[in-house]
Amino acid sequence: MEVSTMQSLELIKDIYNVDQLLSGKSYIQELVHRLAKALNVKYVMVGHAIEPEQKSIQTDFLWAGDGFVPNVVYELADTPCTHVICGTRVNCYNSQVQLAFPKDRMLQDMNIESYIGAPFLHTDGGLIGLLVIMDEHPFKNPAMLSSVVEFFAARIGTEYRRLAAEDSLLRIKESLEQLVQERTAELQQAFASLQQTQKQLISQEKLATIGRITFGIAHELKNPLNIIINASEILQTEDLDPDSFKKAADMIQQHSLRANDIITNMLKQARQESSQQPEWINLSAMLDRSLDMYLRSLTDTELRSRLRKNIAISPGIKACLLDAPGIERVFINIVDNSLYALAAKMHQGENSYTPEINVTLNQESGFCRITVRDNGIGIALKHLPNVCDEFYTTKPAGEGTGLGLWIAKQNVEKNRGSFSITSEEDVFTEVIIELPNPTELEVQA
Ligand SMILES: Nc1ncnc2c1ncn2[C@@H]1O[C@H](COP(=O)(O)OP(=O)(O)O)[C@@H](O)[C@H]1O
Ligand SMILES: [Mg+2]
Repeated sequence: MEVSTMQSLELIKDIYNVDQLLSGKSYIQELVHRLAKALNVKYVMVGHAIEPEQKSIQTDFLWAGDGFVPNVVYELADTPCTHVICGTRVNCYNSQVQLAFPKDRMLQDMNIESYIGAPFLHTDGGLIGLLVIMDEHPFKNPAMLSSVVEFFAARIGTEYRRLAAEDSLLRIKESLEQLVQERTAELQQAFASLQQTQKQLISQEKLATIGRITFGIAHELKNPLNIIINASEILQTEDLDPDSFKKAADMIQQHSLRANDIITNMLKQARQESSQQPEWINLSAMLDRSLDMYLRSLTDTELRSRLRKNIAISPGIKACLLDAPGIERVFINIVDNSLYALAAKMHQGENSYTPEINVTLNQESGFCRITVRDNGIGIALKHLPNVCDEFYTTKPAGEGTGLGLWIAKQNVEKNRGSFSITSEEDVFTEVIIELPNPTELEVQA
């Protein structure tokens, strides 16, 4: 190995021995300091080209004599640095550099005699900046100095690239943070307006529920009240026989109790409690009794006299565990619709017409099936899909509320049963209810 190569390696090793804990700007600063001392030159300068035209240099570290001095900006034109940035790896003016660049005032002012500069580059080859050493005397060993400057320019370039990467990461982080803040604010706003909307919806829903309950109570009470009114009219009949008197009084009592039950249940529903504790009931007795009671209260005397009522109950129906008042209401709502449809058809005036209502009760394994079928006006196909909707009625105002089937379906479903309705306009309507009917043993298990 040549002496100068040996020397430059030794020098590089010596300068390179920077505190390894340093990084970034303090690392470069320390390197510049060491370069000045080890190479024994007056000036060491590290600067970057000012974007976008790269026509001038902004120094970042400027060593002069025995310390760092304030940084400067200088035009590249007519300075030895132009050659450096033109892509020459390393540019060396061993002496009389001022003669080569007579227009460079800085060289004159600083009394510079010798100059070595090397660029450091982006990974794609573009210029980042340069490392320059200058002195007031000619360099004694320019070849060695050139290789040292070239080496450290590359090392400083690495540090610059790292700083730039850190900087852009920081900017990305900041813009991300800002984005997160903006999005959080948007979300908070959306959440607040959602809460507001929810509050409004809740209060609207409360109002609607109150309306619904009031309407429901009125609808449900109309039925027993009619019966009570009719029975009380019977009581006023002159010369009433004791038997009829007792029947009418019984009716008043039973239906007053039913009205009371209805109110209690409606209030429970309003408080969103389950309507009633299930109890073991004899479905056939309940159907029989309520149909009978309902028909006796019929005010349409023509319908009452012409109506044919068939009730077919399979023998040996077991007790069912159900919400009894709820199911009775279902049944009465359905019968009420049938009688309305029968009266409507009857009053169309066809003489040969016989209004008929057929009620059946069967038991299959695990469930009971109740059917109520009438040969009244039936339901037009276009209405059929909606008849169980809340407030859906085809009856004139004052005659229908559109709540009967809605309540009926809900009550059946609350009792884990199923509800279906089929019809043919002008021919028949049939409602089928299936209710679970487990054995007592199954219930206990
Ligand atoms: N047995 C039936 N025969 C004919 N139409 C019926 C029958 N049952 C229900 N409907 C139709 O279903 C609609 C909804 O019934 P419902 O919910 O009880 O309300 P409402 O009886 O107050 O009209 C009735 O308006 C009627 O059009
Ligand atoms: Mg009805």
